[in-house]
Amino acid sequence: MSDFDYAHLITSVPDYPKPGVVFKDITTLTKDPEGFSRAINDLADHFADAGVTKVIGAEARGFMFAAPVAYRLGAGFVPARKPGKLPRETLSASYDLEYGTDCLEIHADALTPDDTVILVDDLIATGGTAIAQIKLLKEFGAKLAGMAFLMELDFLNPREHVSRYTDAEIYSLVHVS
Ligand code: PRP
Ligand code: MG
Repeated sequence: MSDFDYAHLITSVPDYPKPGVVFKDITTLTKDPEGFSRAINDLADHFADAGVTKVIGAEARGFMFAAPVAYRLGAGFVPARKPGKLPRETLSASYDLEYGTDCLEIHADALTPDDTVILVDDLIATGGTAIAQIKLLKEFGAKLAGMAFLMELDFLNPREHVSRYTDAEIYSLVHVS
């Protein structure tokens, strides 16, 4: 765990996008050169010895973290996109969000059983987005080495939800209780 104070670079926005939800705005971290580079390096370096071949990132905020983590690890980047955005054959999985439901797709040739994969996203809240990606990579027979997040909302119990699908490690830089 890093001793850098990432939490002070994340802005809490009450009642967005609807009353009762406190939105975690990570753009105040991504615009900060030191905060952003430290976050990417911390997330990537935690899995430096895991033999990662591919990093999956979910549209849209996941792209901001997953792509640079893949670059630092020397791994490939696989986008998980919202429906209808990928031009060729896809596999898809639906999931529940903190507020609503959605679906993610990845290209049907994105992974192979030889791949060792990590999921990277800005946030894990209920775990629904991560679970959708876990279901997808299982269809390929790829190995899940772990999951890396800038922030984890402990009060929504994402570890408990994700543990029904995998025992792979969850690594988060900031915990919100
Ligand atoms: C947010 C966030 C994570 C997800 C976490 O994405 O970026 O991907 O929610 O929530 P969960 O653990 O309950 O699934 P969102 O779908 O709001 O959209 P965005 O990334 O496109 O902004
Ligand atoms: Mg997202």
